[in-house]
Amino acid sequence: MSNMQAAPKPTVVVRGFRIFEGLLQRDVQEALVADLRALTRDAPFFAPQTPYGKPMSVRMTSAGELGWFSDRTGYRYTSTHPKGQSWPEIPASVLDIWDHISGVTRSPQSCLVNFYGENAKMGMHQDKDEKDLTWPVVSVSLGDDALFRIGNETRGGKTESIWLRSGDVVVMGGAARLTYHGIDRIRYGSSTLLPKGGRINLTLRVVD
Ligand code: SIN
Ligand code: FE2
Repeated sequence: MSNMQAAPKPTVVVRGFRIFEGLLQRDVQEALVADLRALTRDAPFFAPQTPYGKPMSVRMTSAGELGWFSDRTGYRYTSTHPKGQSWPEIPASVLDIWDHISGVTRSPQSCLVNFYGENAKMGMHQDKDEKDLTWPVVSVSLGDDALFRIGNETRGGKTESIWLRSGDVVVMGGAARLTYHGIDRIRYGSSTLLPKGGRINLTLRVVD
């Protein structure tokens, strides 16, 4: 298949989620944080509303041609930040990770940037707002440790959890692309990468 390329071997595989522990060295993580600071000056974090009427505890912004957005009417991709401007470009430092690890040659169209403060979490969900679910999702963890829960292709059932640490990268693809997953909690202050604590997670996606 012409859109596939060789990718390195994961250190752990949990239910088809390919986990590359410690893939990003500290200097690479610091460069990413610097790029993300510039990015969030152009596209500040916002607190998305959910269709259920509760704001999410995670704050979000995006880069790329499409950004993920949620409000009372539902989840969708948009070409602009809620304040009206186009999303900034995905930093080259972030695209490098995708190129190295995704196993595909097409570039991502969207980089969702999630910020988890001390009490933030993300409920169990599937990533299914993209048109073509054959492309993988690549997730990058920066900052505080996070307890990542992996379930099944349908809601409920037994789950397995793993701590994601700063510099870990997860590839969700193939049969695992529609597996439920979420973040139960972070271990606030466990990393020195972000001076004020917290966790940044990037998710890279092909959308359409
Ligand atoms: C997500 O599933 O969208 C985020 C996962 C994470 O924060 O590691
Ligand atoms: Fe997700």
